[in-house]
Amino acid sequence: MFDMAGDDVISFGLGEPDFQPPIEAINAFHQAMLDGHNKYTTTAGLPALRKKIAESWHHLSPNLDENNVCMTMSGTNALLNIFASLVDPGKNVLLPEPYFPLYGPDVKLWGGEARYYQCLFENEFVPTIEDLESLVDDNTVAILYNFPSNPTGATISIEQRDELLKFAQKHDLWIISDEVYDRIVFDSEHVSFVGTDDDRVILINSFSKTYAMTGWRIGYILSANNEAMHQMIKLQYYITACSNDAMQYAVLEAMNVADDYPDQMCVEYKARRDLICSRLNAMKGIQCHVPEGAFYVFPRVDVPNMNSQDLAIELLKGGVLCSPGSAFGPSGEGHLRFAYTISQEDISLGMDKVEAVIKRLRGD
Ligand SMILES: Cc1ncc(COP(=O)(O)O)c(C=O)c1O
Repeated sequence: MFDMAGDDVISFGLGEPDFQPPIEAINAFHQAMLDGHNKYTTTAGLPALRKKIAESWHHLSPNLDENNVCMTMSGTNALLNIFASLVDPGKNVLLPEPYFPLYGPDVKLWGGEARYYQCLFENEFVPTIEDLESLVDDNTVAILYNFPSNPTGATISIEQRDELLKFAQKHDLWIISDEVYDRIVFDSEHVSFVGTDDDRVILINSFSKTYAMTGWRIGYILSANNEAMHQMIKLQYYITACSNDAMQYAVLEAMNVADDYPDQMCVEYKARRDLICSRLNAMKGIQCHVPEGAFYVFPRVDVPNMNSQDLAIELLKGGVLCSPGSAFGPSGEGHLRFAYTISQEDISLGMDKVEAVIKRLRGD
């Protein structure tokens, strides 16, 4: 569908910020290269950056230090590394659905089975404990939670987090918490799994969304479990040896001097979210939750006799690119994903086009 999109198409397709990284980080990257930071680093990464990251979680888990952090070349790298550490053939992992599409294949790569739990529109895209209970068995080693979620934008309350935590503890599961959107949360505080179960929680995070650096490929794994960290750092050596040298200085500078950068982006994201949700909810046949995080909306769209892929193709012909919900798993069917990583002006123009296409298809 990306290939089919012409130049004049308004694209809600890509899950990538339209901002640039903070200028301080770009300058620090340049300076670090000039200063000779163009070499291998230790496998776990620059100690000063790991310390800074550990400290950024002290409000939830005050004993974390640099030994609890391993720099990776993106959240994608972190995911692969964690699954490589935890999954053996014959074991299974519980994964959300609709999902970020890498989870399942990552589990299968190491011979494991991906078992999907549903996060449905009628439950505000949060799983039910009954559903989780029906999937878990003696071979389940881990459960992955992703809040704020891609593709739904869903977040959880502290009470919901605690229920999900209790479920995992009851079955002695590792909790892999993908919180790459932790700094893109609108009307409330981000609810993390960090600081809840030091023995079993492994966090994935990334600077892709936090500082709009998707192309820089830098993220990290954090866990209070020293043995887990030890194993994952060993694996990191075999996967990429280490992260990028100069870039780690740049991220450290961003954390030191531009910590409010994500908050500034959030002001704009929130205005866009309000705009797109009010436009979608005003259209006949569309229902949209107002998400509390990330930069996606995942409305339910009712056009009789048309699946989400055909609908996305019709929208593309009408000048708008979005993702069919089925691309994120079977329970995404009946939905579309719009990434609001474009200007408010383009969102308005795009919504005019969506409205015209849906009206025509529904015969309203
Ligand atoms: C939920 C989720 N996890 C992980 C990632 C990976 O991010 P990156 O590899 O850019 O750090 C993404 C990227 O879109 C995502 O949406």
